[in-house]
Amino acid sequence: MSDIYPVDPDFAAHARIDRAAYARDYQASVRDPDAFWAQAAQRLDWFRAPTRVRDVSFALEDFRIRWFDDGELNASVNCLDRQLATRGDKTALLWEADDPGTAPKHVSYRELHARVCRLGNALRALGVEKGDRVTIYLPMIVEAAVAMLACARIGAVHSVVFGGFAPNSIADRVSDCASKLIITADEGLRGGRKVPLKANVDAALKLPGTDTVETVLVVRHTDATVDMQMPRDRWYDAVVDPQPAECEPERMNAEDPLFILYTSGSTGKPKGVLHTTGGYLLYASYTHEAVFDLREDDVYWCTADVGWVTGHSYIVYGPLANGATSLMFEGVPNYPDFSRFWQVIDRHKVTIFYTAPTAIRALMREGEGPVKATSRASLRLLGSVGEPINPEAWRWYYEVVGDSRCPIVDTWWQTETGGILISPLPGAIDLKPGSATLPFYGVQPALVDANGQLLEGATEGNLVITDSWPGQMRTVYGDHQRFIDTYFKAYPGMYFTGDGCRRDEDGYYWITGRVDDVINVSGHRIGTAEVESALVSHPKVAEAAVVGFPHDIKGQGIYAYVTLVAGEAESDALLKELVAHVRKEIGPIASPDFLQWAPGLPKTRSGKIMRRILRKIAENAPDQLGDTSTLADPSVVDSLVKHRHGA
Ligand code: WTA
Repeated sequence: MSDIYPVDPDFAAHARIDRAAYARDYQASVRDPDAFWAQAAQRLDWFRAPTRVRDVSFALEDFRIRWFDDGELNASVNCLDRQLATRGDKTALLWEADDPGTAPKHVSYRELHARVCRLGNALRALGVEKGDRVTIYLPMIVEAAVAMLACARIGAVHSVVFGGFAPNSIADRVSDCASKLIITADEGLRGGRKVPLKANVDAALKLPGTDTVETVLVVRHTDATVDMQMPRDRWYDAVVDPQPAECEPERMNAEDPLFILYTSGSTGKPKGVLHTTGGYLLYASYTHEAVFDLREDDVYWCTADVGWVTGHSYIVYGPLANGATSLMFEGVPNYPDFSRFWQVIDRHKVTIFYTAPTAIRALMREGEGPVKATSRASLRLLGSVGEPINPEAWRWYYEVVGDSRCPIVDTWWQTETGGILISPLPGAIDLKPGSATLPFYGVQPALVDANGQLLEGATEGNLVITDSWPGQMRTVYGDHQRFIDTYFKAYPGMYFTGDGCRRDEDGYYWITGRVDDVINVSGHRIGTAEVESALVSHPKVAEAAVVGFPHDIKGQGIYAYVTLVAGEAESDALLKELVAHVRKEIGPIASPDFLQWAPGLPKTRSGKIMRRILRKIAENAPDQLGDTSTLADPSVVDSLVKHRHGA
């Protein structure tokens, strides 16, 4: 029996959606999706209203996903222009700096509109046209949102690259989509430390495949001296400030691309997940309003970085399309101290707070003191995203952070899904700590076994979604076959999420984590293959195998097994060098937590590495290794167990 936290009647009394409404509208949404989504599409402003709703087939021989495909709109108009009549002076973005001594900025819808228009004009003047790709490599500053919306305004496709990625990762992402222009800053600032963004771009642009980049726009943020290579590099303010504050928006078809966002998968290089305009914006805004029970006077804060999908959908597009006040935080939870999140909440009277379990666990470790030193009386709703939240962290979040007063929405979704698919609606669905609960309107989850058999009732299996929703990704940029192969081949006719999941007797979904070779480190997806290829790119490494293991704070950590080239000696210095090498190749988020020398790796007779065994060794569960008799050389396992890190 799991705990139940029933819907709070006071909350429900004022909520947008109550139990009856959810039950009724969910039924309607799956019974007649065309009617449901046609109605929902009216929440957007269209230049030309769609007459067609959906044209979808997940069948391999006849594959297509199209929504509202005769509609025309512009995402930036929906996020900005249409707010001006009633919300021109309302704060659209509330910026809180890394350093609490730096004054926060309140950017009104009117001001944001003007800034987006100026940049839109500047991009056009620099030759960026509809359909061109623009890479955005910025810290958490207002210009990041301005840049995304300016691309949307002129129909350019943005590709935001997380500021923690290293030059190689930037170069891969620039070359994959042949970006014409990069928007970056002199430096970023996080937890008092400087991040050399411009220098990273310079290094990336020296790598092969990046010569499509004609211009680098550089925002002055820390005022650091950076190398400017004329005529390629241009100061953002010099180019943008003189531009007019009106910019004709491009008329976009609903199925025209809005953005590409690279994410890790089981194999190979990160995939460019492509989202289109109409369905994505509709889905991001609708879920944002419903799941967060949005009200006009809310101060809404999502702590994600705009470099991840959560920042796209729930800092920028969803909230702004809803005319909300969205807080953007440049810093980190523990700077200058472990009270920072709660201080920011008090400072800006934040009412809705949305963060990741890894942050909760890290803060929980510091005890209640840093939380209780603040009031948090403004809070009315809490959210969680990015990885499963363990019930202990859930209860601490609920009781200590929310003073047992605020519902928690545990929102399950993915870069690929564009928006939240499974989550409580706080006025409608009883909560169970650790469960993402029930599907959003139109979403049809199901569980299948390894053979693709649909499973009924309370059970566990692989999570699939059996029909399309408007926010679904449309393709892998430049590789449509990879899109189909990755998501629709394992279980024909269904979208495979890559997650394992349990369904309980109340029909609630409990995500158990990835079942593929993706590691979820602090809510960031990292492909084992990426880390392995970074390791083997070191001249002294012959072979590497990487697996995830349970980590108290990060959810999962990275455990690497490395076989050296014959003749190379194992040493602590080399171990450190290899960890540093991965940071340099991919970025700090991919640093292995542990690295173990492996004179041999457990392989089948056909040469396939048995990761299952390596996972068990990393987890320190040598009694659960299972059958090792199919290994080419079973003795390597004993040696690995004996020399396990910390053994
Ligand atoms: C995991 C982040 C459990 C899951 C929005 C998924 C979660 C992957 C939850 C996607 C949650 C995300 N409970 N697991 N509430 N939210 N995940 O693409 O494994 O960065 O497949 O999107 O994170 O990560 P992504």
